[in-house]
Amino acid sequence: MKFFADTAEISEIRELADTGLLDGVTTNPSLVQKSGREFIEVVREIVGVVKGPVSAEVVALDYEGMVREAEVLRKIADNIAVKVPLTPAGLKTCKTLSGDGTMVNVTLCFSSAQALLAAKAGATFVSPFIGRLDDVGTDGMSLIADIRLIYDNYDFETQILAASVRHPMHVVEAAKVGADVMTAPPKIIWQLFKHPLTDSGIASFLKDWESTGQKIV
Ligand code: E4P
Repeated sequence: MKFFADTAEISEIRELADTGLLDGVTTNPSLVQKSGREFIEVVREIVGVVKGPVSAEVVALDYEGMVREAEVLRKIADNIAVKVPLTPAGLKTCKTLSGDGTMVNVTLCFSSAQALLAAKAGATFVSPFIGRLDDVGTDGMSLIADIRLIYDNYDFETQILAASVRHPMHVVEAAKVGADVMTAPPKIIWQLFKHPLTDSGIASFLKDWESTGQKIV
């Protein structure tokens, strides 16, 4: 499973990239607003840190506008994935861009029918929003499982990118049902490392080691 960081905060991205476990980054207009930074400038900085796909979202709603914005975004770097919303204009843009060899992340996917359309439009990634579905009393994870089944039935190459991840178990469950990628806020990625038994195990090993008086180097 690939790990993407869902943030526009460059310091958080650098910290995660340093672990060697970060495969890409997703941003969206709300995350850019939260960063307080200029969009293009922050995306340029991110592609300087992360070699894998970096999603940058268009904000136009019509096909011509989306294609114009995508032109600007994809010129930033080869690892830009242009993010388009799951609308007829978004999927038309997806088809045009993917036909040109540009990576496309189709975002705001909330149903299997939408995911099927995204794959037919040649999306590199489809982003089902697990947390937002859970928020309205439906089971976000079962959407990931349904999309996996549909994509496998037809050998679609579109990668399922589990998005709107709210806690570590979302990551584990998404991995169990076969999501190709997950994107999560850095705080959640750091939580994945943690287990109280790891901490207490280290403490007791170190205590016993110190009492031997030995050194490795
Ligand atoms: C994905 O690409 C989105 O940026 C993100 O996962 C949205 O998550 P949210 O529902 O926590 O805003």
